[in-house]
Amino acid sequence: MQILVTGGAGYIGSHTLVEIYKAGHTAVVVDNLSNSSKESLKRVAELCEVKEFPFYQLDIRDKETLAEMFVNHKFDACIHFAGLKAVGESVEKPWLYYENNINGTLVLIEMLEKHNCKNIIFSSSATVYGEPAEIPITEQCPKGVCTNPYSWTKSMLEQVLMDVQKADKEWNVVLLRYFNPIGAHKSGRIGENPNGIPNNLMPYITQVAIGKREKLNVFGNDYNTADGTGVRDYIHVVDLAKAHVCALQAIEKQCGLGVYNIGTGKGYSVLDVVKTFERVNDLKIPYTIKSRRPGDIAEYYCNPQKAEKELGWKAENDLEDMCRDSWNWQRNNPNGY
Ligand code: NAD
Ligand code: WQD
Repeated sequence: MQILVTGGAGYIGSHTLVEIYKAGHTAVVVDNLSNSSKESLKRVAELCEVKEFPFYQLDIRDKETLAEMFVNHKFDACIHFAGLKAVGESVEKPWLYYENNINGTLVLIEMLEKHNCKNIIFSSSATVYGEPAEIPITEQCPKGVCTNPYSWTKSMLEQVLMDVQKADKEWNVVLLRYFNPIGAHKSGRIGENPNGIPNNLMPYITQVAIGKREKLNVFGNDYNTADGTGVRDYIHVVDLAKAHVCALQAIEKQCGLGVYNIGTGKGYSVLDVVKTFERVNDLKIPYTIKSRRPGDIAEYYCNPQKAEKELGWKAENDLEDMCRDSWNWQRNNPNGY
């Protein structure tokens, strides 16, 4: 299949490009590089042993430029990663998040419809569950009250895409609710490259390990969890990337609407991650306990069985692999790309 990959220069997009090429598909990438660099695409091309990808540096909100790109290519499906994702920034600048994520997706849908490409895989998030009604979270679990504008954009866009599919059954819409992606490609050539101080746990840990940050702040040890720190379902980014390949197969079989949790089904605490990282990489991560981070939920992990049953997808990497590969990326690229 020929795939339009929006946001393909980013963390998850770059890893997914490698997997879709490995599976025999081809891709055209569009990205405005607001949170990424062209270097990731150069490295993806090396890993895929292709000279380069068709790449358009454009903003998906810019209908005219996007329309020009559509004139040059015909697509079988779109994998839509493009969006802003920093939770804290979304609280400070909600309009920016609603404008970029929602407007961008609406323009994209219009263009896909116009060019008769009615197949889309959307990067959704576990955050649409809000404070989950049950753990492990199944897809039956009702969506909840989101704690920040970023999460609302995901929740709203899920609704938009479901309505599009409901109105026109020619659409195939796969909503992948990612849990917590970490890790990097085994080669150490591509990985997560945050701007400034990392918001998320794993990039913060790897920056402590490389000496860029003094110590990790652990946000709260008084949660009702085994060791008091927050529990999450961490998923290796390469496993996550492979879920998109499985979703493309479902689309080829005209799946209609599909909603899937993409996680391992196992919950690990902050201290589990720190200890595993230290053990597999033979390093010390100094940390200090701080107060809880506003908006954080004590514990969540998913039941990923629906994805296994219907998409034939299952996570293969464990927390050790994730810690090893995250460090391998950081060690080989102390300053990112
Ligand atoms: P990322 O920031 O690395 O990648 C997103 C890419 O989209 C970037 O390259 C950015 O430049 C591009 N982009 C943003 N707005 C754009 C626009 N208007 N036009 C064109 N390009 C634009 O983020 P990621 O971690 O790779 O996440 C990919 C997707 O998955 C995002 O939609 C994100 O919200 C979602 N997601 C991420 C996580 C996570 O923890 N990383 C979890 C759940 C869902
Ligand atoms: C994990 C755990 C923190 C940093 C976020 C988004 C979510 C999704 C994935 C996109 C928590 C603790 C963290 C630190 C810490 N993204 N922590 N010290 O908050 O589960 O999810 O990324 O959709 O929307 O909210 O991930 O990595 O920030 O935190 O103690 O410096 O690590 O409190 O328990 P989170 P995270």
